[in-house]
Amino acid sequence: MQIPRLHPDTIEEVKLRADIVDVVSEYVVLRKRGKDFVGLCPFHDEKSPSFTVSQTKQMYYCFGCQAGGNAIKFVMDLGKRSFAEVVLDLARRYQVPVQTLEPEQRQELQRQLSLREQLYEVLATSAQFYQHALRQSQGQKAIQYLQSNRKLQEETIQQFGLGYAPAGWETLSRYLVEDKHYPAQLVEKAGLIKPRKEGGGYYDVFRDRLMIPIRDVQGRVIAFGGRTLTDEQPKYLNSPETELFSKGKTLFALDRAKTGISQLDRAVVVEGYFDAIALHAAGINNAVASLGTALSLEQVRLVLRYTESKQLVLNFDADKAGTNAAERAIGEIAELAYKGEVQLKILNLPNGKDADEYLRERTPEDYAELLANAPLWLDWQIQQVLQNRDLKQATDFQQVTQQIVKLLKNIANSDTRNYYVSYCAEILSLGDTRLIPLRVENLLTQIAPPAPTYSKPVSARKAWGNEKLSPLPTSHSPLPSDRSLLEHAEALLLRIYLHCPEQRQAIIDELEERDLQFSLSHHRFLWRQILETTVEQVDLISTLQNRYLELSEDLGLISHLFHLNEKWKTEIIRIPQLVQAAIACMDLVMLEKRYRHFLELWQQTDPEAEPEKYQFYYQAFYTEKLKLQKIDRQRLFSITELL
Ligand code: UTP
Ligand code: MN
Repeated sequence: MQIPRLHPDTIEEVKLRADIVDVVSEYVVLRKRGKDFVGLCPFHDEKSPSFTVSQTKQMYYCFGCQAGGNAIKFVMDLGKRSFAEVVLDLARRYQVPVQTLEPEQRQELQRQLSLREQLYEVLATSAQFYQHALRQSQGQKAIQYLQSNRKLQEETIQQFGLGYAPAGWETLSRYLVEDKHYPAQLVEKAGLIKPRKEGGGYYDVFRDRLMIPIRDVQGRVIAFGGRTLTDEQPKYLNSPETELFSKGKTLFALDRAKTGISQLDRAVVVEGYFDAIALHAAGINNAVASLGTALSLEQVRLVLRYTESKQLVLNFDADKAGTNAAERAIGEIAELAYKGEVQLKILNLPNGKDADEYLRERTPEDYAELLANAPLWLDWQIQQVLQNRDLKQATDFQQVTQQIVKLLKNIANSDTRNYYVSYCAEILSLGDTRLIPLRVENLLTQIAPPAPTYSKPVSARKAWGNEKLSPLPTSHSPLPSDRSLLEHAEALLLRIYLHCPEQRQAIIDELEERDLQFSLSHHRFLWRQILETTVEQVDLISTLQNRYLELSEDLGLISHLFHLNEKWKTEIIRIPQLVQAAIACMDLVMLEKRYRHFLELWQQTDPEAEPEKYQFYYQAFYTEKLKLQKIDRQRLFSITELL
């Protein structure tokens, strides 16, 4: 088959989506070592691993045979396949839409490529021009502004390549076109000059402004932000969108911040150029600025590549950040946050200050402390909803409840949602613990999607109220997503038990210690058989298989546990974490179950008739609830990720 020429956007997108660890893991068993992964090199014979994969760099390298490259290169070399073939393959796997190039388009592309090269050059030359002008007498007030108003050191001014655009109408234009002989049209395409409306010729876009070069991830200048030194409007003038610069796809200072982000495993996003500059100057070198617009998905994706735990702290101006404004600033990443794909935190500095202002009065350590304590976005939103409200007032109470319900509805992960339901129920109970279950049930009813008619309604929800209560069901089916989580967790634990003899005692101990049972009947049955098999040293799996045959039990539901496919062999490396995660999941689901169970019993008890029982059930469900709250929310992220 003739493979068509691929559009460069397609290639870029494939590079962005096909994570190297993912791609390599298909072929090589990788083990985490520090920030990197190591394994046995597939390109030469070796006994100890010298093949290294860096997720942050998206590169692999073998210290043994010096093979190295990116994800595409890896697949090419391994399968001796062509570039286009591999890209197409990866595009299919990572659902990247494939665009191809017609012959005319190819020519056009060639032209564009050389245009881009020329634009980089013009922009680099202009940056030098502005830097130079800053040191001339005309740049006096600009450098003074940087030193006095902004308190910037010489080193920072140099690092960021700050400059000054002189006040005349065509200083840059003359320099580039007359002295340097760049075609005026090219300089115009770089966004630096504009044609005059009358009389021909061009004039400078940036005049009498402090110039801040905006760079791409590789550190090449692609645009400028120009701040006025007077009261002139706009305060900041930015380069227009050009062939090289797209505001929504750029983060200021990412070139300088990417190493810090991957070292600290989190990124700080601020609004302003000078906020980012001030943070870097203060040694907080994982900060980028969003250029004053709502964060786009592309910007977030750019920055998340460098953090493994996907932690993003938004430090936006507090005064502007009414909930709506914050929501706008958070823009498209709200959805990612609700799905748990990014751990979004919000930092508002005291008195509505921005980072630059704050750091001029306080120390970097003060800032770091606020950063470390920044609340998760959801907690922050709840704080916002409660701000200036008096829950004792009926209207406030009602409005707050409505807003909270709206928030809770957005949470996709059921464990996280359950956690926040009880958390909010407690807030809405205003210290009266007896009200908590009522609030929990109210919230659950309000956030539940309309019950589908074909399924049996969950009794617990309906039980609250005046109607005569039905007899208590002996077991409560967990919510569907809980069930699948539980199914995964239990299967995981059984699989590890079967295949990793050295983990067996630990698993038994953990289960006993927490008084955990397998909930799904086929798992429970298997577990019983396992415990009854005393033959330890012999092959447990084949003994069990025989036993199932003996009892003519159906192997169908569990036979997959007896085998390890390729994917599993790579997972098996993370066993201690996996055991912990599975146990934590089972624990969580159990707690939930007990909580609901006691809650229901309590609701069905008449306090007048049976005051002691009433008190007992109350204690019981409240104890479970407290345990539930203790479960580390951060860990829930990792559990769902692992399973
Ligand atoms: P702010 O207006 O919040 O100001 O703009 P700031 O960064 O604190 O500005 P200073 O400290 O007075 O210099 C935040 C960011 O929004 C963009 C810029 O990227 C700015 O850094 N912005 C702001 C513009 O692009 N144009 C404007 O006119 C204003
Ligand atoms: Mn500022």
